Amino acid sequence: MPESFDVIVIGAGPGGYVCAIRAAQLGLKVACVEKRATLGGTCLNVGCIPSKALLQSSEHFEEARHKLADHGVLFDGVKLDLAKMQARKGEVVAANVKGVEFLFKKNKVTWLKGAARIVAPGKVEVAGETYDAKNVVIATGSESTPLRGVEVDETQVVTSTGALELPAVPGHLVVIGGGVIGLELGSVWRRLGAEVTVIEYLDRLVPGMDNEIAKLLERTLGKQGLRFKLKSKVTGATKSADGVTLTVEPAAGGAAEEVKADVVLLAIGRRPHTEGLGLAEAGVEMDERGRVKTDAHFATNVPGIWAIGDVIAGAMLAHKAEDEGVALAEILAGQKGHVNYAAIPGVIYTWPEVASVGATEEELKAAGVAYKSGKFPFTANGRARAMGDMDGFVKILADAKTDRVLGAHMLGPDVGTLIAEISLAIEFGASAEDVARTCHAHPTLNEVVKEAALAVDGRALHI
Ligand code: NAI
Repeated sequence: MPESFDVIVIGAGPGGYVCAIRAAQLGLKVACVEKRATLGGTCLNVGCIPSKALLQSSEHFEEARHKLADHGVLFDGVKLDLAKMQARKGEVVAANVKGVEFLFKKNKVTWLKGAARIVAPGKVEVAGETYDAKNVVIATGSESTPLRGVEVDETQVVTSTGALELPAVPGHLVVIGGGVIGLELGSVWRRLGAEVTVIEYLDRLVPGMDNEIAKLLERTLGKQGLRFKLKSKVTGATKSADGVTLTVEPAAGGAAEEVKADVVLLAIGRRPHTEGLGLAEAGVEMDERGRVKTDAHFATNVPGIWAIGDVIAGAMLAHKAEDEGVALAEILAGQKGHVNYAAIPGVIYTWPEVASVGATEEELKAAGVAYKSGKFPFTANGRARAMGDMDGFVKILADAKTDRVLGAHMLGPDVGTLIAEISLAIEFGASAEDVARTCHAHPTLNEVVKEAALAVDGRALHI
């Protein structure tokens, strides 16, 4: 008799492992299939966590070289030990992935090691064994989108995976794609001494983010030394012993030029990872972009097969996948799981950071929603001044009639943390006045959020 489970989750990234833990907490018998040697998926192994380790380390290097002298902290010579920095990153990843293994043991989630294939409804094959499952959850995530003519070898032409492992600082790093990965990893290598050029197809960075914030981000990163080539497309890459030559054309067409790079980072988006799962054979429907099609409760068209995270529609974010994992586990346990997509924050971990939640001004205009906007700059905040981090502002958008908070867009120090207050406000259906009347400790960066909320009603105090 094959071993049988209430739930088999395929993929142990933030969506899958969280779904498995929550289902086990609710008393279900759960297995999670993972083919990688460690749990945690892209996020913990080759994504969010290692990139944040390098962002932190490289920012310390940047501070030591360029910022601490302003605070009266002087060094005779600052040197980079990249091997040590990379080793530390490895330790951070190892501790995190072991943490997930511990959580599986604690919650009695069985880790099935190997690649999963759905061989029939309710039957999943892993490493030659077939297991029965009342429910199968596809949480297989995403992979880097390829670009024709630019062949990835993870040495000279890298995805985010290779860009986290470079053994030396490249002289010239060319990034294809001015999105989140390009700007975060471009920042890391720029801080460590590389010249960095970002080639972006559109006329702006970070599509989907608030326009005003995107423009300010371009200016701020530009001041730091990142170079941008907007409205441009890469049509080919030729590798040689001393680097890569890219052919770049205006997006609208026109004369091509050559750009030479030591390393090229391809970061033009990610696509759902569905290969080898047996989805077509099982009759699981996909949408026009190759994502698994689900209803609002994560059900596919095949009874007993469900999907969450990067492999379905929506933002490709670890915390979106986690919330879907929790909601689905609760649905499978007979509860009413739900995800509020209007309250999912997005953060770009450059310095200064960018953070956003809810609707942008562009979206509100397109939807014909009358709104008020309140803005407050970090230059007028005592704590930001004391830190020496005064770039950026917080903007809060509220319904013109009801004052309900509809969105917030921020660029500034630690705004990835500040945004949580507005996610909570949106979740609670709070008004801008609710945020403004809440006492915020002084002196903190959070006061900028309070002042922006006051500004919605034209009554900011400190400007
Ligand atoms: P992205 O979707 O953020 O950005 C891709 C960029 O490449 C866009 O600006 C797009 O216009 C541009 N592009 C597309 N085709 C191009 C071409 N042929 N030539 C030049 N530019 C082109 O994708 P990215 O940065 O690869 O990240 C992948 C996913 O991972 C995203 O969904 C992102 O949200 C997620 N992620 C999230 C992070 C975070 O939350 N901090 C960190 C890293 C990744």
